[in-house]
Amino acid sequence: MLRRLHPEQPESFAFTPANQAWAEAQITKYPEGRRASAIIPLLWRAQEQEGWLTRPAIEAVAEMLGLAYIRALEVASFYFMFQLQPVGSVAHIQVCGTTSCMICGAEDLVAVCRDKIAPRAHELSADGTLSWEEVECLGACANAPMAQIGKDYYEDLTAARLGEIIDALASGTVPTPGPQNGRYAAEPASGLTSLKGFEADRLPQNASVALAEAIGDTVKRIDGTEVPLIAPWAGGPGRPAAPEPVAEAPPQATPPTPSEAPASPGTRPAALEAAREGKADDLKLIKGVGPKLEALLNSLGFYHFDQIAAWTGEEVAWVDENLEGFKGRVSRDDWVEQAKILATGGETAFSKRAKT
Ligand code: FES
Repeated sequence: MLRRLHPEQPESFAFTPANQAWAEAQITKYPEGRRASAIIPLLWRAQEQEGWLTRPAIEAVAEMLGLAYIRALEVASFYFMFQLQPVGSVAHIQVCGTTSCMICGAEDLVAVCRDKIAPRAHELSADGTLSWEEVECLGACANAPMAQIGKDYYEDLTAARLGEIIDALASGTVPTPGPQNGRYAAEPASGLTSLKGFEADRLPQNASVALAEAIGDTVKRIDGTEVPLIAPWAGGPGRPAAPEPVAEAPPQATPPTPSEAPASPGTRPAALEAAREGKADDLKLIKGVGPKLEALLNSLGFYHFDQIAAWTGEEVAWVDENLEGFKGRVSRDDWVEQAKILATGGETAFSKRAKT
């Protein structure tokens, strides 16, 4: 496919202030003399902001990196992930047309797109809200046929289901991503053949779907404000700086950086500066807490089962809201009830299994 700049271009491009800070921070990842390597993340961010890559955006990125325009255009026109023409203002649908998906019905999905969106790929729908294209294998072949919509995968599609999804997007709702035929993940369509003992305890959704739901940005444009920590190696532009230590304040009594938390519903539970006697409980014995969540909880000042067991409803609401990337997990998996058992030396079905 010939990839050229679109004949109609806007006058100018500028990153939003938050995206500009993010972009500048990305450049600092690379050593002097090698900073042109930031071109792909910067072009991608420009596309995330605008929906497609305009000529002014490509040139603005080239200028930030001290590159000739043609160098940036070479990158933008080489990679198919960069959209060089306007896409639907609500969603751009990328239907996989490679072998597995083709065998399982990708042509029917393309026919739905032609019928409901536009006759040709990369054309906008009549109201400008939707567009589509056929793409190469997206690596979800076990769930063929599938399509990527915005940032998420919709798998195990049928023509009828894709039609419903397109209708839902057109009406302003975003259907739940993941398998669309009741499958949990990529297990055999006829059901599990191994690890059956874990079926009852698994989370209601597979991890990808749960994360997509928690973040909620499937078809959302990115303006930079949704990422609280964008450059930890550079002191974190976009995140409030750590407060200066106050000489009079007793350092050990200060709860860990509550000012870093965004305003949120509920009440922040009492936090500890560090684990008691330097030994934290293994919070991964709570079903739904993995290594990342455990580290996040520790960073918020929660190290022990008895802390979690004592959370009130208001405190659960605060923690649920402040588990960046894992919002809602406390109440969804009922951590408080699990922690009450573990805090008194008891075992849950999950903790027993986790220990073995
Ligand atoms: S063939 Fe469609 S995802 Fe691989």
